[in-house]
Amino acid sequence: MLRVGIIGTGKKKARGDAMGYGMAYKHAEAYVSLGNCRIVACADIVKENAEAFAGTYDVPSIYLDYKEMLSKENLDMVSICTWPHLHSQMVINCAKAGVRAIHCEKPMADTWAGAKRMYEECLKRGVQLTFNHQRRFGRPFRLAREFLKNGEIGELVRLEGSCVDIYDYGTHYVDMFGFYNDETPAEWVMGQVDVSEEKIIFGMPVETSGVYLWKYENGVFGFMCTGNAAEAIGAHNRLIGTEGMIEVGSKDGVPLRIKRKDSSRWEIIDTQGEGLHGPGYINRAIADAVDALMTGREPELSAKKAINAMEIIFACYESSRRRGMVKLPLDIDDNPIIEIIKNTRRP
Ligand SMILES: NC(=O)c1ccc[n+]([C@@H]2O[C@H](COP(=O)([O-])OP(=O)(O)OC[C@H]3O[C@@H](n4cnc5c(N)ncnc54)[C@H](O)[C@@H]3O)[C@@H](O)[C@H]2O)c1
Repeated sequence: MLRVGIIGTGKKKARGDAMGYGMAYKHAEAYVSLGNCRIVACADIVKENAEAFAGTYDVPSIYLDYKEMLSKENLDMVSICTWPHLHSQMVINCAKAGVRAIHCEKPMADTWAGAKRMYEECLKRGVQLTFNHQRRFGRPFRLAREFLKNGEIGELVRLEGSCVDIYDYGTHYVDMFGFYNDETPAEWVMGQVDVSEEKIIFGMPVETSGVYLWKYENGVFGFMCTGNAAEAIGAHNRLIGTEGMIEVGSKDGVPLRIKRKDSSRWEIIDTQGEGLHGPGYINRAIADAVDALMTGREPELSAKKAINAMEIIFACYESSRRRGMVKLPLDIDDNPIIEIIKNTRRP
């Protein structure tokens, strides 16, 4: 039985908002559904949150200080469900305490240096680190990739995406582009952000709107528009091939449709009730992370894949700060959006 601990239990709400989804509850449902995991401890700085969580899942030990939990509980696996500015140090502390696997919420970290540090610490210690880009387990996304790999749209030319911001929501889609494009690293990035209105999500400032283009090492382009510019793309994901096109989350709310080669019309694909958010994606993500730990294989949501996405995202912001093309690997440490906002006079 794996001994599992949770950091940042949150508070269960009927509906999440930018001030708290209580993602720990979703993680817990996944662990509870597996026969080989037992949540033995949880930690939250808010006592009522930890108590309510422990009561819901019959968790025997509660801590207000997660470091105390790490030193006392001999945990095999930890889920980190706090906001992004805490992720890097918490991952590092888990790794140093001897935890074997860490499943951390997205986005990876609040700075590029923080993302690299957490990644390298786990690599060095042989600790399995995964990030909750759970949509990789969703049928619309998986089928889209399958159609692409089967040659239904010819050779991949460009991946397009749209959402509210590239850092918080967009991390799912920049990561998904890696899923579609065989985890290929990017070569260069160009981007521009507008920060005219304040937008803070899970404690992190993000752009009001953005337009971003990048080129992968295999020649495929990534193109993303966010916020007020998102309508320029008009689909959550679009895979453009030499001979056809696939849309995941199209403008009219269809989860998946394809214009196959030799056809000029859209064909709607049955995704058997699965949409952009689920159901069941987090359960599958955690089941995969647990199985990977038991078998020693690379998990689908490995940090090695997530860090590709994180680099592109910070490079998009960096391109806007530099007013120019950013060649990768990214040679900064901070999160450029902070300085961009500081230096932008708002109306
Ligand atoms: N994967 C997804 O689709 C998805 C969806 C929503 C949110 N998220 C991510 O999940 C993360 C958590 O968001 P949420 O809305 O669930 O958070 P939340 O606000 O519901 O819960 C966070 C909890 O962390 C606790 N906390 C704060 N500092 C702590 C510390 N030092 N030690 C222990 N606990 C501490 C808070 O008291 C709170 O209870 C964010 O990074 C967010 O981006 C992911």
